[in-house]
Amino acid sequence: MQAAANKFQDSMGPVPTAISPEYKHAPGGETMKALAWFGNTDVRVVDAPIPDITEPDDVILQITGTTICGSDLHLYHGEILALQKGDILGHEFMGKVLKTGANVHNLKPGQRVVSSFQISCGSCEYCQQKLSSFCDRTNNSSLQNYMYGQRDAGFFGYSHFTGGFPGGQAEYVRVPFGNVNLLPIPDGVTDEQSLYLSDVLPTSYHCVVDTGVQEGDTVGVWGLGPIGLCAVKWAQLKGAKRVIGIDTVPERLAIAQNVLGIEVIDFNVDKDVSKKVYEMVPRGFDVALDCGTFHEPKGMLHKVLKATMLETDVLETINEMIYCTRKMGRCGIIAAYAGIGHGFNVGALMEKGIRLIGNGQAPVRKYWEEILNDYIIPGKFDPTFMITHRVPIEDMAKLYAAFDKRIAGVEKVFVETKFSAPPSAGCPKLTRVDDWQ
Ligand SMILES: NC(=O)c1ccc[n+]([C@@H]2O[C@H](COP(=O)([O-])OP(=O)(O)OC[C@H]3O[C@@H](n4cnc5c(N)ncnc54)[C@H](O)[C@@H]3O)[C@@H](O)[C@H]2O)c1
Ligand SMILES: [Zn+2]
Ligand SMILES: [Zn+2]
Repeated sequence: MQAAANKFQDSMGPVPTAISPEYKHAPGGETMKALAWFGNTDVRVVDAPIPDITEPDDVILQITGTTICGSDLHLYHGEILALQKGDILGHEFMGKVLKTGANVHNLKPGQRVVSSFQISCGSCEYCQQKLSSFCDRTNNSSLQNYMYGQRDAGFFGYSHFTGGFPGGQAEYVRVPFGNVNLLPIPDGVTDEQSLYLSDVLPTSYHCVVDTGVQEGDTVGVWGLGPIGLCAVKWAQLKGAKRVIGIDTVPERLAIAQNVLGIEVIDFNVDKDVSKKVYEMVPRGFDVALDCGTFHEPKGMLHKVLKATMLETDVLETINEMIYCTRKMGRCGIIAAYAGIGHGFNVGALMEKGIRLIGNGQAPVRKYWEEILNDYIIPGKFDPTFMITHRVPIEDMAKLYAAFDKRIAGVEKVFVETKFSAPPSAGCPKLTRVDDWQ
C-alpha cells in the first residue's frame, strides 16, 4: 500500500511549494538520535544526520521536549499513505534555538520556543488569517491534491502525504519558516506547560470553539485520550453545564471522572452507547465531539469492511454522534480521518438538521498565544494534569508500542533529550518504558 502510494505520487510529481523538505547535513557529519518509521508497527531509534540551515527562513532547534500523539499511532499502523522507510516522525516538540537563517530576525540563539505541528508560510491567503494548518505553500503532496482537490499545510514528521518533512522525535530539527512557526516561551512557564502548545492544546481548543460549545450546553466527548480530556476541560471553561465522556480505558475514564469531574460511559460495559446516552440525556447532546480514532472498529461489520479494504476509515463514532445529538445540534470531528468509510447515516444527519463540522487539522497559530496568555499563565488551564510519564528519547520506539496498547495508564508523555531541563516540580520523574506496569 505504502509503496503503491509513493509510486503514484512520484508519477504525478511534487506540487511546487515555497520550501523543500530535504535538509542540509551539519558540517562534520555528526549524527543525532531520532525515531524513524520502517514499516507497520516497526519504528526504531536511529542515528541520523544533524540538520543545518538549508533555506534562509530556517531555524535549527536543539529539542528540549518532544512527545507522542494519537495521530502518530495512525502512522505506526501504516494508516496514513506515502510513508517511506527512514522517515523521521514527531510533530509535537519544543526546543532551544541553535541557529537562525539570514531571514530570521525575531529569534536569537538560546531562546526557548515551542513549534507548531504544521509548517505555514505566514503570507498566503490562509496564513494571513492565521489558519496555519491550511497554508497553501508548504505541502508538495500531489497525492493529497488528487484525493481531496486541495492540500493541507506541510506537517512535521507526518509522511509524504503532508510534505515529507523530518519530524521532532529527535535531538535536533530544522524548522522551515522559523520566524512564523515558533512561539517564544516566557521564563515563568515550564517546559511541561509549554510543549503541548505545539498540538494538543490548540487542537482540543479548536475542536470546542469551532464546533460552537456554548454556555449551558450538554456535551458528549468520544475518546478520552489527551485530545478528549483537554476538550472536556475547554468545554467546561466555555460554560458547558454537563459533559459526558465515552471511552473504555479504565485509567482514562478515571481521570475524566476524578480529575475533571464528569460522567463517563465505558463502551465495553454499555455496548449500546446511544441507548445509554438517551437514558442519561433524554433530549440528546447539544454538541458532540469526536476525539477518538478512525482505525479501531468496535463492531464486526466494520472489522470486516476494514480488513477487506472496503473501507479505510470507520464511521461508527460519527454515526453515534449524529444519533445521540438533538435536532439542530452540532457535531465536530477533530479526530483524524484520512480516507473513505461505509454506512454513513445521512438520513439522521439531514432529517435532524445536524450541523456536522469537519474541524480540520487545527490551525495552531490561530490559538497558541491566546492559550498561553489567557489560560496557562493565569493558571486557568494547567496542561500538566494529563502528563503521566517522562521517558528518554532512547525509549521512543518502546513508547510507541506502550502508547498504542495504552499500558500502565499512559496518557500524555514528556520525552526528554540530552538538552532537556530537569523535570519541573509536581511533574513525573524520568522512567524507562521497560519498567512500566
Ligand atoms: N485535527 C487535528 O488537528 C488533530 C491533532 C492531534 C490529534 N488529532 C486526532 O485526535 C484523536 C485523538 O488523539 P489522542 O492523542 O487523544 O489519541 P489517543 O489514541 O491517545 O486517544 C483516542 C481515544 O479514543 C478511544 N476510542 C477508540 N474508539 C472509540 C470509540 N468507538 N468510542 C469512544 N472512544 C473511542 C480510545 O480508547 C482512546 O482512549 C486522534 O484521532 C488524533 O489523530 C487530530
Ligand atoms: Zn498530533
Ligand atoms: Zn501560507
